[in-house]
Amino acid sequence: MHPLDPIFKPQSIAVVGASRRTGSIGREILHNLVEYDFHGKVFPVNPKADFIHSIKAFPSVSSIPDPLDLAIIVVPKEDVPAVIDDCGEKGVKGLVVITSGYAETGEEGRRLEEQLLKQTRRYDMRMIGPNGMGVINTDPAIRMDATFAPTLPLDGRIGFMSQSGALGVAILNMARELDIGFSHFVSMGNKADTSGNDLLLYWEDDPRTDLILMYLESLGNPRRFMQIARRISKRKPILMVKAGRTQAGARAASSHTGALVARQGLDIATDALLEQCGVIRVNTVKDLFDLAMCFSKNPLPRGNRLGILTNAGGPAIMATDAAINLGLRVGKLTEQASERLRELLPPEASVGNPVDMTPKVGPGQYAACARIMLEDESIDSLLVIFVPPLMINAFDVVSGVEELRREFHKPIVGVIMATESFYEDLNVKQPGHMAVYHFPEPAVQALAALDRYRQWRERPVGKVQSFPADRIGAQQLLDAARERGEEHLTAADGLRLLECYGIPIAQYCTASNLGAIDACAEQLSFPVVLKAVAPGLVHKTEAAGVVTDLRNPEELVAAARRMRSGLSEPPTAAAGQELGLSFMIQEYVRGGREVIVGMIQDPNFGPLIMFGLGGIYVETLKDVTFRVPPLTDLDAQEMVRQIRGYRLLEGVRGEPPVDLGGLAQVLQRFSQLVEDLPQVSEIEVNPLMVFPAARDFRAADARARVSKTPGGGRCSVIPALKPELGP
Ligand code: COA
Repeated sequence: MHPLDPIFKPQSIAVVGASRRTGSIGREILHNLVEYDFHGKVFPVNPKADFIHSIKAFPSVSSIPDPLDLAIIVVPKEDVPAVIDDCGEKGVKGLVVITSGYAETGEEGRRLEEQLLKQTRRYDMRMIGPNGMGVINTDPAIRMDATFAPTLPLDGRIGFMSQSGALGVAILNMARELDIGFSHFVSMGNKADTSGNDLLLYWEDDPRTDLILMYLESLGNPRRFMQIARRISKRKPILMVKAGRTQAGARAASSHTGALVARQGLDIATDALLEQCGVIRVNTVKDLFDLAMCFSKNPLPRGNRLGILTNAGGPAIMATDAAINLGLRVGKLTEQASERLRELLPPEASVGNPVDMTPKVGPGQYAACARIMLEDESIDSLLVIFVPPLMINAFDVVSGVEELRREFHKPIVGVIMATESFYEDLNVKQPGHMAVYHFPEPAVQALAALDRYRQWRERPVGKVQSFPADRIGAQQLLDAARERGEEHLTAADGLRLLECYGIPIAQYCTASNLGAIDACAEQLSFPVVLKAVAPGLVHKTEAAGVVTDLRNPEELVAAARRMRSGLSEPPTAAAGQELGLSFMIQEYVRGGREVIVGMIQDPNFGPLIMFGLGGIYVETLKDVTFRVPPLTDLDAQEMVRQIRGYRLLEGVRGEPPVDLGGLAQVLQRFSQLVEDLPQVSEIEVNPLMVFPAARDFRAADARARVSKTPGGGRCSVIPALKPELGP
């Protein structure tokens, strides 16, 4: 038995706080349980009533003579602890707590919630909530609607979890209007015990759930989510509205990586994470249902070629534009298919794709032409657009096409530009009908998402590789900086850190003063670059701390002298503080293409890795992409390919390509560094010079920030009290 079964498959339920008042939450939950015909026993609990809603009531849980699986708790907050003790003594193993006033209200509420959780742990109970609107299981063998929503759910194959209770009522309403049914609906409330991850795991093997929908405001444990969702989304699509887009994470950052995160103005960490685990993110509940309708009623396409069948030109153009923008192709029909269409249609019809049949055609031609298009091997999915002319019945058009759904294993979606009343009648007259939309764009969006999901399913999983690395040496560099009380590694130590992980760097030597420069320069060949090194000097270029293309020792020494006098008051040196200026002399790396590799901490997600065009292009082009580590080999390859400047890396105008495979490997090594060393709270390699020759990469600068605490700079995203359910 699964630990959540007492909640989802109870044989007996107590509604504690079932109220005599019609319209109160306790009363409505009891009413819904009865109205939806729960296939078990229901016991109202209320010390002040003998019966409620015509059902015998009990003064307490312990006074119920039968065994109890689940208690729905709807009593005032102050009474909850006593009720839970009562349930615990009775042997209840599942709780749904509707009562609010916990973590959502602030510190005191958070404390109360922790106590609540400890109490449930003591009795080995599982809990949904608090502060939720309840749970639904439509399984015909269970039929449990333990919510206070006025709309009864339809039976279907979608598992829906919602973090917002208020939205729950609207969600159930909207689903009913759209003829969308659920296997389960779970209003998760504060997720004190049962998390979104737990529900995903529950649905992973649930034979009644084929599609998972999530409305979330926070991902409690994003890394665990990534592990789980990556696996489950290969079997069942996961669609998500993640509300509360934030950019707070980037504010404190001092690097380009941080600035770019901030400026993107989007919750890119969430986007990156969801993309990496195949979860399809949408912006609104409306979009969620648009996609859910298409996903739940269609098989996966075999490719991205869309067929469009219409009786009006305008909507077909809108559909074509949307399809191309969203990565679908408008498939070219075979000659044979066009000829067959020609025989059926008026001479003015257009028999290429889109097939514009003209407004003269009726339901018979719709069905016959749809059949020809579905039979054609150049079409992977079909969009049927119908603008109702007078005298032609939209129902007949839908029914004719409907028949084909059973015959062809291809997605078919309708756009019926009819009145609201048509849609209302459709659910009554043709329950379980094909996915239909009012306008072309949402229909195409849904088909494009279905095709993206197909691509995800076909994409190999990818491997997180482990490279030989000097982890101890890297650790020593970080410890030494912390012991010196420095927030950043020195320029040389930043580069050494990369070397510990096998990331090639530009040759350099360091000179602690002017006198040591000559000897140092002998180790390198000219031209060289001179860089100032001083405590607190992070932005060297802005502080005139970098001089490039020095061709001989004289130029080098002269530049160093100028630098020393120019930097006598470095921006961050406290008054009277010894300057402590030293020099780094580095080979002048030219002719390569410049990229940037960075990592910043997101307060919710932990580390986030960035890759893009580097050097002077970082700020101007902002051509970057993000992923959550650990990067698989495929993640790294995709990062390289995904930037707009990929063409430059491939080589333009006869230039040879850079070592693209090697570059992806540098990203994987960087990911390993980030994973191994949680004390690195921010790091940026910029520029990393890349060349056509195999493995010819040279990091010219690495700026690494070290966290002050020995334990590391990463936020803990795993609440201590929250164990995860294992599969
Ligand atoms: N055991 C059993 N029944 C009890 C009880 C107990 N220990 N204590 C009280 N009751 C009964 C009351 O007698 C009352 O029944 P009655 O109306 O027949 O007299 C019923 O339980 C409800 O108690 P009441 O004091 O009237 O509370 P309420 O209905 O005003 O509020 C909550 C209770 C749980 C609804 C309220 O505290 C709350 O949390 N509301 C917000 C819920 C919410 O929004 N959740 C999130 C949804 S998204």
